[in-house]
Amino acid sequence: MAKQSVKPFEFWKETVDMMVKQGLLLCSVGVDGKPNVMTIGWMTGGIIWGRPILCVYVRPSRYTYSRLEEVGEFTVNVLPMEFAEAVNYCGTVSGRSRDKFSETGLKPVPAQKVKVPVIEQGVIHYECIVVHKNDVLPEFLAKEIAESAYPQGNFHRIYFGEIIAAYADLEGVELLRK
Ligand SMILES: Cc1cc2nc3c(=O)[nH]c(=O)nc-3n(C[C@H](O)[C@H](O)[C@H](O)COP(=O)(O)O)c2cc1C
Repeated sequence: MAKQSVKPFEFWKETVDMMVKQGLLLCSVGVDGKPNVMTIGWMTGGIIWGRPILCVYVRPSRYTYSRLEEVGEFTVNVLPMEFAEAVNYCGTVSGRSRDKFSETGLKPVPAQKVKVPVIEQGVIHYECIVVHKNDVLPEFLAKEIAESAYPQGNFHRIYFGEIIAAYADLEGVELLRK
């Protein structure tokens, strides 16, 4: 079924449920034009500055981080459970040394409004432009979180992406709910 434009947070519950179940796929691209994909388990969303915003949390050690620093755009893709293995793979190897698209069969296809691709097999897609970024600051973080989440530092950078397009395969979304 063709994908239809949806309101930015129309399928927010389904998105968060899948994020908790298996993670979401964050696509980025460098100035070299090479796309990369990584799994994310942390994302927040809401209206800030009167705009629909997704915040993604990326550690500096990720290849994705260098891509986001080069090109301030990303897409977030919700994959059905049948892709659990591929989603897990994208969260365990780095695009620095591997082409995760060819290795998993996940297919990058052009997005509507950003240079970064979306993943064809996804059922919900968000296209975002970075409008702000900020780092998790150890001095302002609860001690027990700093100790448990950051034993080696590598504090996340938070990218605030304005959602400029959102679309979904409505039948696919129905299946996600089952
Ligand atoms: C379920 C799951 C959720 C993850 N969530 C995040 C996240 O929110 N932020 C992050 O920096 N890394 C997260 N990771 C780790 C990255 O996906 C992993 O380090 C990945 O290999 C980075 O790929 P890259 O080097 O190609 O960017 C997660 C991994 C898994 C398996």
